[in-house]
Formats: sequence, structure tokens, C-alpha cells
Amino acid sequence: MSRLQTALTAQLGCRHPIVQTAMGWVADAKLVSATSNAGGFGFLAAAVMSTATLEAEIGKIRASTDTPFGVNFHMFQPNAAEVIDCVIAHRDRIRAVSYGRGPDAKTIRRFKDAGVLCMPTVGALKHARKAVELGADIITVQGAEGGGHTGSVPTTLLLPQVLDAVKVPVVAAGGFHSGRGLAAALAFGAAGIAMGTRFLMTAESPVPRATLQRYLDVKEPASIRASTALDGLPQRMIDNAFLLKLERGGLLSRLQVALHSAWLWRRQTGMSIGHMAQTFFSALRQGDSAIQTMMAANAPVIIQRAMVDGLPDEGVLPSGQVAALLDSLPSVAELIAAIIAEAEMCLLQLPSMTIAPSKLFSKIA
Ligand SMILES: Cc1cc2nc3c(=O)[nH]c(=O)nc-3n(C[C@H](O)[C@H](O)[C@H](O)COP(=O)(O)O)c2cc1C
Repeated sequence: MSRLQTALTAQLGCRHPIVQTAMGWVADAKLVSATSNAGGFGFLAAAVMSTATLEAEIGKIRASTDTPFGVNFHMFQPNAAEVIDCVIAHRDRIRAVSYGRGPDAKTIRRFKDAGVLCMPTVGALKHARKAVELGADIITVQGAEGGGHTGSVPTTLLLPQVLDAVKVPVVAAGGFHSGRGLAAALAFGAAGIAMGTRFLMTAESPVPRATLQRYLDVKEPASIRASTALDGLPQRMIDNAFLLKLERGGLLSRLQVALHSAWLWRRQTGMSIGHMAQTFFSALRQGDSAIQTMMAANAPVIIQRAMVDGLPDEGVLPSGQVAALLDSLPSVAELIAAIIAEAEMCLLQLPSMTIAPSKLFSKIA
């Protein structure tokens, strides 16, 4: 069996151990279909979709590929219950769900009973343990260098930590873009890699060209920083004037931006005041601060300015640090083929492993 056939390809039913992760307003039907047709496994970013849009996007994927695909969502979105029903209704094709702050054990049971694999993304060891306890089938480990909301532990440290702690297959994310990276992840013991930013920077990406140019122009990994200024949680973004303005604004200015965003988001999603209040108190109960909870609507509203409207100076640009290494927009098929070819070459050049890396030293009592 090829070393590129792993527990991930077996469980997800894809040809290559490469996952295209969900990215709000980026991972649409076209990107997911292109990934799945090229042998990878694509996740549709449903966390920012209305139920009608989700149904339409699923319809488009069903029409353009025969391969299985995944859906990403989170429990705080206004239509979470409908998204869950929709995924289960399409269980003949939806092979997995991904999520961050995810569903409870009962909902996870529902997915599993329907044959839908649960594949949360975690940014810390304790979250990986908790996710497995709740029933996760596969864990995606996202190191600090990854795009969007992210933790503080780099991939090279978090990946072995989680691999040593859980028994389910683990997928490595955060900073991957090449066959060398895939080979390295497999050498760590991962079952494959998951990439966000690399897929954002492809020919099939729906992101307007003016915004994509900012991703192509950034050359310094340090200028793709994690900041809490957007929604109170660390989120990695390319430095721009808008982000700096958000960061420099005092509490009052942040509150003003947050209230404006909340109002626009409510209008866009049709969320009732009651549901908004319920979401607010539920987030407070989960331990978020009041200001962080109020800022939650900033992310969707301000991200859309750049990623959908094509106005990179009026919004923020969520990105992994890996964007600083990328200077091309290949097609998804070219990208996946190149990664697989390079990984095969790297693996051929490596001598076969004779010792489990974690057993190099015995523990000192
Ligand atoms: C523009 C953008 C939007 C994202 N949106 C989501 C999202 O909606 N849901 C989610 O679970 N993760 C989201 N993420 C995180 C990615 O799914 C993925 O875990 C991360 O990009 C991996 O790191 P990489 O960019 O270094 O490959 C987003 C990332 C980016 C860059």
C-alpha cells in the first residue's frame, strides 16, 4: 500500500491525504468540488451560510462531483439546528462535519448514527482530549501559524503532543503548502494535512483579485499576526491599516464598531433580537467576556468587506503565516498533483523508519 494511503483517505473516501479546510466566504461549492475532483477532501464553509444558501451550495457540489465532501459549522450560528438536519439529510454524500466550538455529545451521536464522521479542529492539547471524549472520529490539529482563529502552540509542538495523547487519526494543519510538508506530517505520525490559506490562494478561490493581491504581496511571516482586536479571540490576519485602526481604538470605539457590526449582521442573517440575546448569554455562560461576546459580529461583517466585496483596505484579511511563502495562484488540481508528486519523492528519499520517534528516550522517573 502506498504511504499516501492513510487512515484519513480510508475513512473520508478520498484519493489523497489532503484536506481543504473550511474558510468563511471562501470555501464555497466551486472550491470544494475542485478539491474533491482532484482527489482531496473539501469542507464547505457553512458557518456563515443561511440554510437556503447551504442547500443551494450542496446542490451545486452534488451536481459537479461524485466524491464525498464535508461541511463546517458551529453551534452558535443562528441556523445550527437546520444545518445539522440538512447535513444528515445529505448523508449519502456528506462524509464528515468539522467544527471548532462544537456540538454536544448528543448531537455528535446523531451524526455518528447517520454515518457522518465528526472531525473537529483543535488548537490545544486539552481541546483534543475533550473532543475525543465527546466522540470525535478524526482530529485536525491546527498550530499557531494557521489562519483564522488560532491557538498559541506551533504545529511542530502541538502535533506530537496530540498524536501521543489520542488514539483517533490526526490531521496536521497550520502552515502546510507543499509535498515536503505532507511528508513531514506523515513522518510525525499524522494521517494527512489540512490547508486553508493555500487553497484560498488558488485559481478557483472566490476571493476578489484586489484582495488576493494582498495575499500575494505579503512576504514577511511576522506581518501575518494573531490579534484579538476583531472579535476578542486570537485571529491571525495580514497587517493592514484597518486592523491597526481597530487595535488602536479605545474601549468606546471598539464598542461602537461592535454595535454597528451586530446591527448589520442581524439584518443580514435575519436573526431575531431574542436569538441574539440567547447567543449573547450562552457565550457568556461558556466563559467569554462581555466585550468579547459583543464583538462576535465584527468578524463576519468586517471580513466580508475584504473577502466578498473586494475592498482589502476596508476589512481584515484572515490568513495563515504561510501566505508569506506563496507567490502563485495554481488551479486546485495542479496544486494537489504537485503536492502529491513532491511528497512521493520525499518519502522515497527517506530511509524506512526503524524506531518509533517517541520511544527514543525512556522517561526519567
Ligand atoms: C480566510 C479564512 C477563513 C477561515 N474561516 C474558517 C471557518 O469559517 N471555520 C473554521 O473552522 N475555520 C476557519 N478558518 C481556519 C481554516 O479552516 C484552517 O484551519 C486554517 O486556515 C489552517 O491553517 P493554514 O491557513 O496555515 O493552512 C479560516 C481561515 C482563513 C484563512
